[in-house]
Amino acid sequence: MATIRVLSRSPTVAAASSLIRPGQRCCARATSGSAPLLLPRVSVRRKSGPYGYTQAKSLVFSQYGEPEKVLKLHTHSISPSLPPSSVLLRTLAAPINPADVNTIQGTYGVKPTFSPLIGTSEPSVIPGNEGVFEVVNPGSSSSTLSKGDWVIPAKTGFGTWRTHAVAPSPSSLIKLDRAGLTPLQAATVSVNPSSAYRMLRDYAADPPLREGDWFIQNGANSGVGRSAIQLARLWGYRSINVIRARSTAAATEALRAELAALGATRVVTEDELQSRAFRADLAAWTRDAGAPRLGLNCVGGASARALAKALAPGGTLVTYGGMSRQPVALPTGLLIFKDLRLRGFWLSRWADAQPDDKARTVAEILDLVRAGKLTDVPVVEVPWEWDTEEGVLREAVQGTLEGFRQGKGVFVFKDT
Ligand SMILES: NC(=O)c1ccc[n+]([C@@H]2O[C@H](COP(=O)([O-])OP(=O)(O)OC[C@H]3O[C@@H](n4cnc5c(N)ncnc54)[C@H](OP(=O)(O)O)[C@@H]3O)[C@@H](O)[C@H]2O)c1
Repeated sequence: MATIRVLSRSPTVAAASSLIRPGQRCCARATSGSAPLLLPRVSVRRKSGPYGYTQAKSLVFSQYGEPEKVLKLHTHSISPSLPPSSVLLRTLAAPINPADVNTIQGTYGVKPTFSPLIGTSEPSVIPGNEGVFEVVNPGSSSSTLSKGDWVIPAKTGFGTWRTHAVAPSPSSLIKLDRAGLTPLQAATVSVNPSSAYRMLRDYAADPPLREGDWFIQNGANSGVGRSAIQLARLWGYRSINVIRARSTAAATEALRAELAALGATRVVTEDELQSRAFRADLAAWTRDAGAPRLGLNCVGGASARALAKALAPGGTLVTYGGMSRQPVALPTGLLIFKDLRLRGFWLSRWADAQPDDKARTVAEILDLVRAGKLTDVPVVEVPWEWDTEEGVLREAVQGTLEGFRQGKGVFVFKDT
């Protein structure tokens, strides 16, 4: 899959709001999870400051709004004398997920905590829930980590859109076996593939999905959808995959072919799903094993309704996204006569409650990646270099919720 790269327009100066000016008072604060650290401010912007200080940059927001309006690039220093339990990290790659944008807009289900921990003039949040870091300083000698290890945050809300981070302890991180992985693969493992994995495994009830069973999903070309297709192929499940038609018939066929190559059993457009002919097609395809018992809903609205209609009696519709911004409204009869189960999936709830399960799921998925059984999702690489302009980073975030994208934006940190 081709990787597209967004190029910075010119090396430039960071935004005025993020500059640490000469003559300012001599202390800023660096984040270490809960404990603020007092750090000297410095007037020059460079990666390794004097006396072992690490120069770092973070995207931050101090009020909710559109990313292009509220995101700022903030420069700060990290002290070399960190608490012994903490771990100094350098970011390698961090995706820009739809939920990150909803968080910045203030429309996400949970609200972040605004704090002045990295010396911003107003209480702020560092966005980004997913990403991979390299350990620069593992902390005390009893640390379970070593310099050069790759780690991901154990829980959500870590704030990954930054060049460096200080984790409060090794236990706040999950160590990855980095052998054979690219930073992009490691950075994108914990949200989309893990969501697809858990929904396919945990949500079809009485009994769980078995080899040969069908499931149906919309948003099938999304990161989650592509992972679900590939995991289903590996586990022997058959999939009906709903996509939106592209601007030309040829482009629609190309997308169908792409998903079929990943292992999709059937690919239909939204129009086909909602046509009269679909009912007969569905019956013919699923004659031997029965109608799908599981539906994965990324979209909502009419698409979710059509998925629900395709389910077998007693089937489960799991809603994990709302890309159409339309509510999930179902005909009463689907509940009374088909006794459908409506569930919601939220990865954070699962991962934060069971970090060990998260670590196991991630490790299993990465084994599949190494074995070439899970291919990379299409991404738009956004190089983040020391001099990358604030505007370039903001623009990369802004388009995330638009449809018909070429790939998921991922910040790839270079020379920071
Ligand atoms: N609940 C959870 O724990 C959880 C975990 C992971 C992801 N998610 C959610 O899952 C969704 C997909 O995430 P992702 O990272 O996989 O996204 P992604 O790779 O960026 O894919 C976005 C998907 O949404 C579709 N889409 C965009 N706008 C749409 C619209 N107006 N109507 C219908 N479909 C539209 C796109 O189809 P086109 O190509 O046709 O535009 C594409 O299939 C997001 O809502 C995300 O928040 C939730």
